[in-house]
Amino acid sequence: MSDTSRPRQLPEVESTDLGRLSERLHEAFAGMAGTDLLITGGAGFLGYYLVQAPLAWNRAHPSESAIRVTVHDNFSRGVPRWLSTLDDPAVRIVERDVLAPLPASEPRFDHVIHAASIASPTYYRKYPIETMDANVGGLRLLLDHAAERAGTADPLRGLLYFSTSEIYGDPDAANIPTPETYRGHVSCTGPRACYDESKRYGETLCVNFARQRDVPVTIARPFNNYGPGLKIDDRRALPDFARDVLAGRDIVLLSDGSATRTFCYVMDAIDGYYRILTSGRPGEPYNIGADRPEISIRELAERVTRIAGELTGYDGQVVAETSEDPDYLTDNPNRRCPVIDKARQELGYEPEVDLDDGLERSLRWYLAEQEG
Ligand SMILES: NC(=O)c1ccc[n+]([C@@H]2O[C@H](COP(=O)([O-])OP(=O)(O)OC[C@H]3O[C@@H](n4cnc5c(N)ncnc54)[C@H](O)[C@@H]3O)[C@@H](O)[C@H]2O)c1
Repeated sequence: MSDTSRPRQLPEVESTDLGRLSERLHEAFAGMAGTDLLITGGAGFLGYYLVQAPLAWNRAHPSESAIRVTVHDNFSRGVPRWLSTLDDPAVRIVERDVLAPLPASEPRFDHVIHAASIASPTYYRKYPIETMDANVGGLRLLLDHAAERAGTADPLRGLLYFSTSEIYGDPDAANIPTPETYRGHVSCTGPRACYDESKRYGETLCVNFARQRDVPVTIARPFNNYGPGLKIDDRRALPDFARDVLAGRDIVLLSDGSATRTFCYVMDAIDGYYRILTSGRPGEPYNIGADRPEISIRELAERVTRIAGELTGYDGQVVAETSEDPDYLTDNPNRRCPVIDKARQELGYEPEVDLDDGLERSLRWYLAEQEG
């Protein structure tokens, strides 16, 4: 893939985050030096820092052998500019749907991160079959590949499957905050089931390939990540609010704003994902997110309003409207908050970015992207 435009300069927020990630993940990345890493779905939101973090580590350690990164994505929503202008000899970008077998011409990857899916509720409800296929069929091909190599002289060293906190569905109050042992309260036929249930089955595949075929597969359950890389038109809450701010209009809630969440800045989350990939126990799921503060969507919007006011003089209000989509809120969890003790104790995971600080960095990033 080629792009004739000039390499993109790293915006300030991004270069600070990547520098910090390179320090925080030094041990994990040093163990991956000189090896091949495949990231499926690398053109998406989490791909933004998943791809760039090892490249930043390579640049910070020129005397070490580089981590070679390959991105496989079907670019269903186009090739983002940051990826098409990435000017780094350690990265390869391949257009491939994860339902197609791994081409024999590809390297023997040492680590694989399977992040290809459709993660935005608006889009996965529009493309439910494609969502299920990526989470189950795409995963199965990778598990079979890893199983073939298990026990040989050239085994895969780690496969990370991206599941979701949505596998818990809408937990009752007794199960919030939610630990990994909670079994879930999920509809198998509702409008969100294509996502929730395919992730649940994906986890079942992982657990059984770990037990029966000795595949070193681990599972991440992300809880509401936000920050640089999250496309402004993705229809998740924070980019919707940022879009309203950039347009200078009121922030519109498409609900009464009472549902609560904790929000995890993407740099913290990426730190957790690489820790799972390199140190997680095979067949084990890990919650990755922030365990506080748990705030309502309305409070999130009010914080964005205040911080945008301080940054740009924005003076919009928070207003509530009803979505035109009758299923917009069906099966939407009322509360979501993780227990992250397992990742803390086993992996040394510790989110460090305060919510207001993360929101400010995100808004600064959206402003820089708009200017760029
Ligand atoms: N971001 C979050 O807060 C969050 C929360 C829970 C779970 N997750 C999971 O993490 C992973 C990454 O999330 P994200 O926010 O980056 O998602 P995203 O939607 O921004 O990006 C996903 C990428 O996967 C690609 N893709 C989709 N189907 C594909 C296919 N069949 N073949 C090849 N590429 C395909 C898309 O083109 C896109 O670039 C997903 O599995 C998602 O379900 C994310």
